[in-house]
Amino acid sequence: MTLHLATRLRRTRASAWSRALHGETVLTPADLIWPLFITEGDAEEPISTLPGVSRWPVAGIVQRAKEARDLGIPCVALFPNTPRHLRTEDGREALNPDNLMCRATRAIKDAVPDIGVLTDVALDPYTAHGHDGLVDANGYVLNDATVEVLVGQSLNQARAGADIIAPSDMMDGRIGAIRTALEEGAFPNVQIMSYAAKYASAFYGPFRDAVGAAGLLQGDKKTYQMDPANAEEALREVALDLDEGADSVMVKPGLPYLDIIVRVKQAFDVPVFAYQVSGEYAMIEAAVAAGAGDRDKLVLETLLAFKRAGCSGVLTYHALHAAKLLHG
Ligand code: PBG
Repeated sequence: MTLHLATRLRRTRASAWSRALHGETVLTPADLIWPLFITEGDAEEPISTLPGVSRWPVAGIVQRAKEARDLGIPCVALFPNTPRHLRTEDGREALNPDNLMCRATRAIKDAVPDIGVLTDVALDPYTAHGHDGLVDANGYVLNDATVEVLVGQSLNQARAGADIIAPSDMMDGRIGAIRTALEEGAFPNVQIMSYAAKYASAFYGPFRDAVGAAGLLQGDKKTYQMDPANAEEALREVALDLDEGADSVMVKPGLPYLDIIVRVKQAFDVPVFAYQVSGEYAMIEAAVAAGAGDRDKLVLETLLAFKRAGCSGVLTYHALHAAKLLHG
């Protein structure tokens, strides 16, 4: 039978050239931010829960940054694995101008000045208890006292050459405090990408292994990170951070929170980034290892989904692989 349909949506899908012509969303290497883990050691350290991802000494980090730049990836995100003996109750190593983060930042900016460096602001790589801030006698993470340290950490990173300060700690009021300090400290062009809607998620496990915080963390992060049940609250977080001077905002984790990305984009129409976090990466790799999916296709489809949802870009451990695929 012939239906004589006026509209056949399959018409434009019938050939590759037509599908290419009608594509609504484009993913390019310029949409990617590559998170990198730094070690004080002198050799590459593979991370077992993140197969294919390693910690690198500073020299290796510079090489990775060059690879990224050569493939058109505009920015790398740095995370240090601070040696155990430098982790303290107050996380003071975060303020050391020669800490691992600052050394890696300077080394990249010296050798590959045309790539952006995003630095994470939070105390968990530096505290003995694994929390993102200072804790009181009851283990409660103090807000205002923590913000004071985060301001010092941000200035420390800006002095080392950080291009984007990315606070991932979820303290109230930290964006405004950091923005003021950057303005007063003569860093008017240092950006702030706020982890605005960051959820207390089960998807961060491999990351905590990577930065060496897994065995240290006491309790959970539910008194500062968001409840996965909440979306209205994410909009309030974003509104505050924008008001306080964030240049862009992040939603984290990624795929389970695509609805949040869409709502944030629709409500504010500002640059929104997603963090496809360690547990998401591990799930894809586990699926591939189990023969349950094709890595290349899973990677490109998930990254495209973030663009479709409205993201300006995505932090992903698959960035280098994806950029190679996109270059064909
Ligand atoms: C901590 C931080 C975390 C991540 C980025 N910054 C973990 C946490 O909040 O415990 C997670 C990233 C990932 O899982 O890939 N400030």
